[in-house]
Amino acid sequence: MSSSRYVYQYLPLLCLLDLAFSIPAGTGTLTLPPSAYATHTIPVSGALTATASLAGPLPPGASAEPTQNTINAHPHLVPGQASNSSADANQSFDFLNVTDPQPIRGDMGSNDPGPHDSAYDRQNPDTLARPTTDEGDVQQAKWPMGLSSTRMTGAGWARQQNVDVLPAAKQMAGVDMRLGPDAYRELHWHSANEWAYVLNGSARISAIDAQGRNFNDDVSEGDLWYFPSGLPHSIQALENGVEFLLVFDDGAFSEDDTFLITEWFSHTPREVLAKNFGVPIKAFDEVPKEQLYIFNGTPPAVNVSADAVQSPEGTIPEPFSFHLSRQEPMVVPGGSVKVVDSGTFKASTSIAAAVVTIKPGAMREMHWHPNSDEWNFFISGRARITVFDAPQSARTFDYAAGDVGYILVDQGHYIENIGDEDVVLLEVLKAPQFEDVNLGQWMALTPPQVVKDTLHLDNDVLSGLSREKQYVVAAQP
Ligand SMILES: *[C@@H]1O[C@H](CO)[C@@H](O)[C@H](O)[C@H]1NC(C)=O
Ligand SMILES: *[C@@H]1O[C@H](CO)[C@@H](O)[C@H](O)[C@H]1NC(C)=O
Ligand SMILES: *[C@@H]1O[C@H](CO)[C@@H](O)[C@H](O)[C@H]1NC(C)=O
Ligand SMILES: *[C@@H]1O[C@H](CO)[C@@H](O)[C@H](O)[C@H]1NC(C)=O
Ligand SMILES: *[C@@H]1O[C@H](CO)[C@@H](O)[C@H](O)[C@H]1NC(C)=O
Repeated sequence: MSSSRYVYQYLPLLCLLDLAFSIPAGTGTLTLPPSAYATHTIPVSGALTATASLAGPLPPGASAEPTQNTINAHPHLVPGQASNSSADANQSFDFLNVTDPQPIRGDMGSNDPGPHDSAYDRQNPDTLARPTTDEGDVQQAKWPMGLSSTRMTGAGWARQQNVDVLPAAKQMAGVDMRLGPDAYRELHWHSANEWAYVLNGSARISAIDAQGRNFNDDVSEGDLWYFPSGLPHSIQALENGVEFLLVFDDGAFSEDDTFLITEWFSHTPREVLAKNFGVPIKAFDEVPKEQLYIFNGTPPAVNVSADAVQSPEGTIPEPFSFHLSRQEPMVVPGGSVKVVDSGTFKASTSIAAAVVTIKPGAMREMHWHPNSDEWNFFISGRARITVFDAPQSARTFDYAAGDVGYILVDQGHYIENIGDEDVVLLEVLKAPQFEDVNLGQWMALTPPQVVKDTLHLDNDVLSGLSREKQYVVAAQP
């Protein structure tokens, strides 16, 4: 087999520079001298296409060379991971300090000598060395916002999760958005209902409804807003900027497909604009030719009411904002919970939510939601969730700050804090009411002999069951 040679022609930059210096001033025509074209040969070895004779068994004597022993006799195993451990209760392994975590749990698994990225493995101990209770097929239930493409402008950024990246997430989609100091998210509207949670900083929001009633308010960290689909609104960051999370009640929603006021102007004949507003055509000379989306603005008046325009129709009767940051949470042994839905935040007819804090080692108790899928966003800490699906399937996922979780309606799950700081997360439902069914409460409110005959539990366990929801159970001593 003769070795192939490839010949490339190119114009070396140096020749062009030489040429530039050699053109006399005032010369009208430019003719490249032959030296401007250089032929350059790149030496190549080997063959482009594999040899046909390699198919099938090799001739006698040419069999595969023995490979190196790739079994590392002493991989770094963390407590509970070794096969001789008696303490294994299928806990989450802490790989954060392990250079090269291994897919080993007791007698299960083996080491991984092939290609892998240990950074992912450290962050996902329950997918690398999953509990032996995991089985079957469960939808992908994790999307890190850090893997979303960040759309940036001169005044902020946005990144989103929707069905394109998390195919099971059909009921809800999320957007993480940052506006710099005084920056705007342009006046716009869109087809899904929008629920928002302020993650950092503060913002001024404004909107009107179909009756022409208007709404203005300031919101800060931990507060909410809700804009019904089709109603136009704007968001302006206050002096320290703002970062917020948007949840849309449509998994296919894309933040890039909203109706922007600048785009409508730039796609309307100016004669029509002049007629619509009863002003001369030249009034529109300075209207932006392209969308602004996220852009720098003028600092707003300090007092939101001073800035507000009086509508002859009055203000929106059910406010579009909710100051959840001022709600004291319900404190339970393992953490705390705040629930907000249309019962108190009347405008939020399609979204219900809980803000849950889980202390290290504590756990959001085993439960499911009978009325909606669940969209999660992790604000802090490290957690794991096992999603239980029928029939006989379960899969465990790990989450950290900035991750989105997605659990389908009726799928059983818990949320366990596996780190050493508080887990704070949002549980968002596409429903007018926040509803959950708790395993422990269900068992406690069922005739004990039914539970006993089914699960073979001691009377002590049955009598200790809580007849009330626990929400977050404490770490075990
Ligand atoms: C258990 O396994 C680990 C890791 O393989 C090993 O270092 C340790 O000596 C073993 N302990 C006992 C008691 O066999
Ligand atoms: C991991 O390493 C950090 C820093 O060296 C240390 O503070 C921490 O205790 C270690 N964690 C574990 C589980 O070993
Ligand atoms: C946990 O994992 C071990 C293997 O390490 C297995 O033998 C055991 O049955 C598991 N426990 C449960 C409760 O599934
Ligand atoms: C908001 O951001 C600032 C600046 O990064 C930070 O100091 C502050 O702790 C953040 N607040 C929250 C609630 O994360
Ligand atoms: C804000 O403006 C409103 C209306 O002008 C006024 O009633 C109110 O007192 C002002 N609040 C503050 C804190 O200045």
